[in-house]
Amino acid sequence: MPTSSRSAKDFFRPLAVGAPEPLREVPARPSRAIHFFDPSNEKMAAKIPQMVGTVDVLLGNLEDAVKADSKEAARTGLVRIAQDTEGLGGPEAKTQLWTRINALDSPWVLEDLTTLIPAIGHQLDVVMVPKVQGAEDIHYVDRILAQLEARAGLDRPILVHAILETARGMANVEEICGASPRMQGLSLGPADLAADRRMKTTRVGGGHPGYLVRQDPPRDDLGVTHVDAERRTFQQDLWHYTIARMVDACAMHGIYPYYGPFGDIADTVACEDQFRNAFLLGCVGTWSLHPKQIAIANRVFSPSVEDIAHARRVVAAMGDGTGAVMLDGKMEDDASLKQCLVMVELAEQLAA
Ligand code: GLV
Ligand code: MG
Repeated sequence: MPTSSRSAKDFFRPLAVGAPEPLREVPARPSRAIHFFDPSNEKMAAKIPQMVGTVDVLLGNLEDAVKADSKEAARTGLVRIAQDTEGLGGPEAKTQLWTRINALDSPWVLEDLTTLIPAIGHQLDVVMVPKVQGAEDIHYVDRILAQLEARAGLDRPILVHAILETARGMANVEEICGASPRMQGLSLGPADLAADRRMKTTRVGGGHPGYLVRQDPPRDDLGVTHVDAERRTFQQDLWHYTIARMVDACAMHGIYPYYGPFGDIADTVACEDQFRNAFLLGCVGTWSLHPKQIAIANRVFSPSVEDIAHARRVVAAMGDGTGAVMLDGKMEDDASLKQCLVMVELAEQLAA
């Protein structure tokens, strides 16, 4: 799969702050599962070499979930793992190498970047930046990366991925997407976002049994409403608005939206449902916090054989793409053709 048709200088053009970015081509590399590991955890680190080729992205996490007194060990651990692992990161690699750096207002972030870029910058594909509040955060990371890349003599720009996990970041989502040509995509950070919004949840992603709608009460023949009658309830998706908003902002700027963490590792069924909702709404991938979530993500974020076959039939039936045809009793036209092309293109990218 091609990594990028752009040259490095495209990434270093002066930022047009406030100006709308043109829709641009971001490298289309499969990234259905972004598997998180703690590089300071030796047991976890030992498993990384065997995972290359089995997952689209391996991400060395330096931020939350890594203890304050392990930050240094996480950085050095990540450098060691990257240097010792064949096929991890870089344009030809089977598995991309990403990292999640510490928050920009933390005491650790500068050292994260100044340690990683000189040592393994040529392997690092994407830097994930947490708790992004606005375009200024992306500009800051962009400039530091540019300096470190120039000093290290890197000819391939490192891309940037922002986590949407503050109310302010949500309010500024469009400007974040367009803040730099380095922008690769966005992930939802449901745990931090819930806290920042003062939602009344205590989980890492997923649903909540209290967030539901109830069927209307039945009426009898005399028109009397029986509010005490038994009625069905339907649980709603807590994240629908946020994901839909994120997807629109990413589509507008030609970058990729991702779900994020699903913390209840044992509940693989609800995890799959949450991932599928995100896929159907336009996301291209998600995080994996445990090896068993990789298989779920790979399955959910790949179009099914039936969907691909149907999409190909519509493309064939539509001929030159104009007008309308009937297929299996359903009307297909330019708009359904375009939806089918999204599916076919994704299947081709994943097969490449
Ligand atoms: C992820 O970082 C989250 O806060 O959900
Ligand atoms: Mg977070």
